[in-house]
Amino acid sequence: MDWGMKNRLSQLIQSDGRALFLPIDHGYFQGPTRKLEEPGKTIEPLLPYADAIMLTRGVLRSCVDPIKTKPIILRVSGGTSMARKEELSHEGITTSVREVIRLNASAVSLSIFVGSEHEHESLLNLSNLVNECEEYDIPVMAVTAVGAELEKREARYLALCCRIAAELGARVVKTYYCKEGFEKVVRGCPVPVVIAGGPKVESELDVFEFVHDGIQKGAIGVNLGRNIWQSDYPVAMIRAIRAIIHENATPKEAQELFSSIKKGKQ
Ligand code: R5P
Repeated sequence: MDWGMKNRLSQLIQSDGRALFLPIDHGYFQGPTRKLEEPGKTIEPLLPYADAIMLTRGVLRSCVDPIKTKPIILRVSGGTSMARKEELSHEGITTSVREVIRLNASAVSLSIFVGSEHEHESLLNLSNLVNECEEYDIPVMAVTAVGAELEKREARYLALCCRIAAELGARVVKTYYCKEGFEKVVRGCPVPVVIAGGPKVESELDVFEFVHDGIQKGAIGVNLGRNIWQSDYPVAMIRAIRAIIHENATPKEAQELFSSIKKGKQ
């Protein structure tokens, strides 16, 4: 691996081989998502505990201090909105590689929509982006997206998406966790896999359990947004998740840490 690629990847994936990415890119098709109305304020207390943040160029420029930040994973696909849910898979590339370099991003990310009407287009978006970014040693993280079809998140489908993303040149793949067969998803993907959270789940313990299980089954970490910053205790959440990822905490230990931070004891 060339020096630049290795250097950028090591900004994202820590020396223990694990990673906690904090995505705040949801507005690129969802508008001002709950608790992300002012992204700069949302992430300020969370930044010390994130290894990297994932966001668009617009929010990066307008809401993030260039002096006090973390490595950037720049979302470079979009062009759709919740107002036309049936068209969510119809993304294009929104940001030039020249701009990616100017913004000093450590990586870029884009969505692929396997099995959707626009599967072919999104996979060529990935291939073309890899062609361009590899020239500058910029890693591409592919996001296996399902749009509004959340029921698609099962092992066979996710394994298909992850493998295709890696085959087309993604250096990291972000996918959903699934309870059954997640180890097969990871085993079939020759590049590191990080877990996305999806909509906020019932309890904190549910999050700790799926993150822990995903890591046991081979994921290197998470790219987890709403289940952190939509919590009433986002700092306690991110610190507890960080403990699972970087300190091998069990779900029970993470829950205890969460409760003690929530009560102001840590
Ligand atoms: C989709 O809106 C984005 O790509 C998010 O980065 C991704 O879904 C992860 O965030 P969350 O954990 O909120 O699903």
